[in-house]
Amino acid sequence: MTGELSGKTAFVTGSGRGLGRAMADKLASLGADVAIHDLSWTGPAKYGEAADLDAVAKEITRHGVKVCAVSGNIGDREAVAAMKRTIDEKLGSVHILVNCAGGDIGAAGGKPNPNNALDISFEDIKVLTDNNLIGTMLVCQAFVPAMKAAGEGSVVNIASVAAHMGCSPEVVYSTLKAGVVHYTRCLAKELLDDGVRVNVVSPGPTKTARFQATRVVDPKRMDAAQISFNRYAEPDEIAEAVAFLAGPRAKFINGQALRVDGGLSLFAG
Ligand SMILES: NC(=O)c1ccc[n+]([C@@H]2O[C@H](COP(=O)([O-])OP(=O)(O)OC[C@H]3O[C@@H](n4cnc5c(N)ncnc54)[C@H](O)[C@@H]3O)[C@@H](O)[C@H]2O)c1
Repeated sequence: MTGELSGKTAFVTGSGRGLGRAMADKLASLGADVAIHDLSWTGPAKYGEAADLDAVAKEITRHGVKVCAVSGNIGDREAVAAMKRTIDEKLGSVHILVNCAGGDIGAAGGKPNPNNALDISFEDIKVLTDNNLIGTMLVCQAFVPAMKAAGEGSVVNIASVAAHMGCSPEVVYSTLKAGVVHYTRCLAKELLDDGVRVNVVSPGPTKTARFQATRVVDPKRMDAAQISFNRYAEPDEIAEAVAFLAGPRAKFINGQALRVDGGLSLFAG
């Protein structure tokens, strides 16, 4: 298949379901071979999106690209190294890395409770830190050196609008996503002479299955056909921004944070 990402290989973490899955599908639709990933092989089933990673991979191959699937904890360096070996063997070197895995899921499997600054448990703080900040750093440490050696690559990290404003609850999650935004700037600075761009997308509230299963949704904000931007994003609307930043149309955009939230966060910075 030919497209603006033909000949490229992309790795999207957390792409067994939700936003990551929409991003992997979008990159494949533009011609990239993609490695999909989830914490476990049946991660896609958690909120009923697909049976497992095999089912998601099969669907993405409709774009006529090569797809491979890996599973493992991004907060575990050995697991990340093993996933890299599999991807290198099956698809070759990664040119596009999307760090989408993460979220506000704590140690017990749902949202931390309590989830405010002074009461959240130490176990939840540790799990959220692995899932959102340490995991992103470990995956970059594993995959970016090959991009640097090749003099070519694009990293898109996924933060959240919550990274850009004071939040309570979701204090630790938003703090870690702010860390992801700043890490993006620092990594871009470090790679300025190496041909590797690093940007971050901060989605607003988006209608993934996990989003709808773990909070009370406002029915007035569900309809994507309404004129008002005061609604939840569709996963595909976030994926479009990621595909733009990942590819050649954004070739001089580097170290930037793009808030994709319909105008929810209308402030400077
Ligand atoms: N949906 C929203 O409203 C929204 C808004 C802003 C930001 N985000 C961010 O977008 C990303 C995707 O969110 P989503 O709504 O699709 O949620 P989701 O729970 O459906 O997807 C998250 C994915 O990350 C994986 N993951 C989490 N921790 C992991 C770990 N340590 N190792 C390996 N895999 C891990 C999960 O298994 C899952 O595949 C997250 O980083 C989230 O913080 C989502």
